[in-house]
Amino acid sequence: MANVVVVGSQWGDEGKGKIVDWLSERADVVARFQGGHNAGHTLVIDGVSYKLSLLPSGVVREGKLSVIGNGVVFDPHAFVAEIARLGAQGVTISPANLKIAENTSLILSLHRELDGFREDAASNSDTKIGTTRRGIGPAYEDKVGRRSIRALDLANMESLPAKVDRLLTHHNALRRGLGHPEVSHEAIMEELSSVADKVLPYVDRVWKILDDARRAGQRILFEGAQGTLLDIDHGTYPFVTSSNTVAGQAATGTGLGPAAVGYVLGITKAYTTRVGEGPFPTEQDNEIGEFLGTKGHEFGTVTGRKRRCGWFDAVLVRQAVVTNGMNGIALTKLDVLDGLDEIKVCTGYRLDGKVIDYLPASQGAQTRIEPIYETLEGWKETTRGARRWNDLPAQAVKYVRHIEELIGAPVAILSTSPEREDAILVTDPFQD
Ligand code: IMP
Repeated sequence: MANVVVVGSQWGDEGKGKIVDWLSERADVVARFQGGHNAGHTLVIDGVSYKLSLLPSGVVREGKLSVIGNGVVFDPHAFVAEIARLGAQGVTISPANLKIAENTSLILSLHRELDGFREDAASNSDTKIGTTRRGIGPAYEDKVGRRSIRALDLANMESLPAKVDRLLTHHNALRRGLGHPEVSHEAIMEELSSVADKVLPYVDRVWKILDDARRAGQRILFEGAQGTLLDIDHGTYPFVTSSNTVAGQAATGTGLGPAAVGYVLGITKAYTTRVGEGPFPTEQDNEIGEFLGTKGHEFGTVTGRKRRCGWFDAVLVRQAVVTNGMNGIALTKLDVLDGLDEIKVCTGYRLDGKVIDYLPASQGAQTRIEPIYETLEGWKETTRGARRWNDLPAQAVKYVRHIEELIGAPVAILSTSPEREDAILVTDPFQD
């Protein structure tokens, strides 16, 4: 298959950065198709660490074309800041190596503010989502509500006032209702004209550029952000992000047909973490959770928040294999489990006295389910840095094989440390 889509199998933070970087070296084009600067990828290249939120991982490598697809919500201020930050590290980003889809919706300051107002007003864990406060949800609401300002609108200052009026009719009604001051038409017009020149040179017909690349036999890497359980349809609604994070969105979010997507690789952590509110059946709010969090450095790259930690949930990942159509997984952070006497894996749930093998869709049921665990023997030796199956302790191999069986997908890549060379490659997704 010529193209590869990388998605998260859990609640995000599965370690996509390293795998995406490894794959981007083999790709010609790297495209983002959903989310925005709520994502956080850390890439380490030749000992230098690069932090990306909005830009595709391809930007740090010479000779790659990076693409921001129409499925992304695009904050022009974050864009300018990220380009400047990377520029200071010697990374050159120009319209020659980065394209932004003309039909991408913009995140403006009023979206960011609304995200914050709502989170501040939410008094308890039933109403609080624990968002990244980047304005992601409000921007997607405006897109679906057909009142977004889109990237191409910046090129047409004459038609902007009417669009801004429509946007403000909605937002100012909301702001009045929430007890916040209205935003003036002039302020938004000024905000838009202050970024127009910086964004417009990158704006293009991305669907066409990608189709041309595909026809020319170039390899496209579709870079997903967040994870399957944060998907607006397939996740733990309403404690989700506001986009489709599953692999199908790679097509819709860039303007290609589904057949262009190719190999679907699910990045899967050897245990489970989640940031923000919402159900988490295998959460370990105890010394096991502390152990995993400390050893796994589980703090958010975007907000710095401490991640909640728990055992591997095979039910969730098995479902993610189906909803994404995963061909294989990249298993990450196995070494965090080194040294544990025993390791638990969730294989099913008990719901109202019945045993079920799927995540129920209802919010109420998701909070009532109790995990059913299998207990596996741990290992004392280190798995860190292993590059061959023979380097791994027998119990660790057993754990990996058991996970494959439980989730119904093979391990294509086993990552054994943040270093790019520390991995066992079973299948190269671009060659499969
Ligand atoms: P939003 O995407 O900022 O609206 O946040 C909605 C939910 O998704 C919150 O629980 C966030 O913590 C979570 N979230 C958003 N982006 C990421 C990410 O990149 N990694 C992990 N969680 C995320």
